[in-house]
Amino acid sequence: MTLGDYIREQCHHVDDALNRWVPAESEPPETIHRAMRYSLFAGGKRVRPILCIAAGHAVGGEVPGLVDAACTLEMIHTYSLIHDDLPALDNDDLRRGRPTCHKAFGEAMAILAGDALLTLAFQTLARIETLDSEIKARLVGTLATASGTVRGMIGGQVHDLEGEGQTPTVALLETIHRAKTGALLRASLHMGAICASATDNEFNALSCYGEHVGLAFQIVDDILDIEQPSETLGKTAGKDAQQGKITFPAVYGVERSHEMAEQQRIHAHRAVEPFGERAHWLREIADLVVNRRS
Ligand code: IPE
Ligand code: IPE
Ligand code: MG
Ligand code: MG
Ligand code: MG
Repeated sequence: MTLGDYIREQCHHVDDALNRWVPAESEPPETIHRAMRYSLFAGGKRVRPILCIAAGHAVGGEVPGLVDAACTLEMIHTYSLIHDDLPALDNDDLRRGRPTCHKAFGEAMAILAGDALLTLAFQTLARIETLDSEIKARLVGTLATASGTVRGMIGGQVHDLEGEGQTPTVALLETIHRAKTGALLRASLHMGAICASATDNEFNALSCYGEHVGLAFQIVDDILDIEQPSETLGKTAGKDAQQGKITFPAVYGVERSHEMAEQQRIHAHRAVEPFGERAHWLREIADLVVNRRS
């Protein structure tokens, strides 16, 4: 099986689960369900759920509830993108190769679609029948903290917005990216580990991998914003420079940023050495994160 086959298979499971948990377009009020599904099924890479599933597989054994838990990460992530694109935030017209949610459904409905996906993520976690309550409580805590204001995604978004136009410094860059993207990516590994009842050592190794992959992911996102055209990215290219964002290339330059992503890839590989062959997919995913084109 190639990584491509593995990813296709997991994406299929994730999309199936999302389809089950997200109300149908025909369910009233139809507009909000259409808006939620429009953004969810627009062709995202599903990196976070795939990382969650691969972490569960690395720990091994039967992992109940893994795909359902994984799909809640995609709900949070998609909500964060819908809100990130709003006129009050990054003001973007293009996402996942289509008009952004607010361009297609209007600003009010896009705000509500984001709110609804956020709420649905926790409703879903609460309802997964195959997980016992202690595991569910840990998953809820992990996902909420990673999405929140203290070193979580929203906190990172605040720093990102307040950093616009400021002098790019190493300290500001670290604060922004560890929280903005890193927290949810790391939580993806944590959630897979929790579902699989990982030992403390396994949990810590996956967490360390998640930290490095998370950093690599954002470095590459920043590089691609400069190097790739909008058609490949599925989002507006050159936005970061236009908006004076604090990015890795802005602080370190493009060449050094490439080297830094490669270093993070090596650290990620090292972190999961104790898993041996069981971390096969995690290693390949780290390689893909660094060498992707979108
Ligand atoms: C884009 O995330 C925004 C960041 C957090 C860097 P992805 O690159 O995972 O976007 P999709 O889900 O594939 O559209
Ligand atoms: C967004 O970061 C991260 C989120 C928490 C949504 P960016 O603003 O860099 O994401 P893109 O480049 O628009 O996808
Ligand atoms: Mg942004
Ligand atoms: Mg943006
Ligand atoms: Mg970006």
